Amino acid sequence: MPKVITLPGDGIGPEVTAAAVEVLREVAPDVTIEERLIGGVAYDTEQNPFPQSTQDALKEADAVLLGTVGGPHDSEWNKLPRHLRPESGLLALRKALGCYANLRPVRVQPGLEHLSPLKPELARGVDILIVRELLGGVYFDQDRKIDGDTAYNTMRYTTHEVERVAKVAFWAAEQRKGRVTSVDKANVLEVSELWRRDVQALRDRDYRSIHLNHEYVDSVAMLLVSDPSRYDVVVTENLFGDILSDLAAVIPGSLGLMPSASLGDGPGLFEPIHGSAPDIAGQGVANPAAAIMSVGMLLRHGLGRSDAANQVDRAVAIALRQEPTRDLGGKADTKTFTRSVLNALESSPSVG
Ligand code: NAD
Ligand code: IPM
Ligand code: MN
Repeated sequence: MPKVITLPGDGIGPEVTAAAVEVLREVAPDVTIEERLIGGVAYDTEQNPFPQSTQDALKEADAVLLGTVGGPHDSEWNKLPRHLRPESGLLALRKALGCYANLRPVRVQPGLEHLSPLKPELARGVDILIVRELLGGVYFDQDRKIDGDTAYNTMRYTTHEVERVAKVAFWAAEQRKGRVTSVDKANVLEVSELWRRDVQALRDRDYRSIHLNHEYVDSVAMLLVSDPSRYDVVVTENLFGDILSDLAAVIPGSLGLMPSASLGDGPGLFEPIHGSAPDIAGQGVANPAAAIMSVGMLLRHGLGRSDAANQVDRAVAIALRQEPTRDLGGKADTKTFTRSVLNALESSPSVG
């Protein structure tokens, strides 16, 4: 029996994870689900945002479902030494699982163009996969410091790190429209010069059927929301991918519609890309769609169950039409939306 570890975390994390778990139980009743601590709540309980008890549980996991971590800007957690803060727990988790490729799909389902603030003709048919490098760059480089009136971080990449994430982008493109856009800042940064050189070399060596182009990150930020249909797969380094994927959430209409899958050496990590939303936490109004769609990605990429994954995606699309949440201009709260997803699942054919 497959085992899934859930890590609800902080803020709206527990609210959206509870919804996602209800859906997972419905479509995969044989899966064993165990909950553990991460983030601020883990620090408060065990003085560690990624406690040993959570690390031990991961050894038995086939996949990990994460909620969100972190507090509001004035949170006591933000006064802790950096390695004890909630976000450091999440980064340590990604590292422990060896998840170097973060897949962030941006899709506008047919009939849901009205949820986008973009003109319907711009939003219609958008289907982008952002592949974000997840274990390198400024996030993890140890050459970093804040000292008096000076501070620095280091954006460093090796050919090995670039190639392994680029392979995931090319592999994904082979199953899609066969187009990859690699995003960098090679007009200014040496680290981007290496990134661009190595992505192109890999394409020329092993992926000749893929159409590859290179674009600058500032320009992509503009084109993503003014002409999103130009993109199929977008591959980029860690920090650029973090920023561009929140921006891309504008296309479907909300951060609450952005799931993700992080893949690499061990069990996959599946999480919505949004944060703990302290402004609405505890009110029961968070949009759980990204967390539920992350269950879809868990079924597809973590457990190899694409039929169940398709069933979840279809049910979410129906619920978005019937019961849109507040962030999408609707009225549904978390429970109402989740009930709508479960109803849609019950009225669709079983996946067995
Ligand atoms: P955020 O993503 O939490 O919120 C940004 C805005 O989007 C807020 O107005 C929020 O209410 C809204 N929003 C986000 N998710 C939503 C949902 N599912 N339904 C409805 N509305 C939603 O970003 P932030 O405010 O910059 O960060 C808050 C905290 O979350 C910080 O501590 C940050 O470090 C952390 N964070 C964690 C993760 C993660 O756990 N993966 C990701 C991003 C930010
Ligand atoms: C995300 C988040 C995280 C990141 C933070 C909370 C560490 O913003 O998953 O997008 O920057 O990777
Ligand atoms: Mn982010």
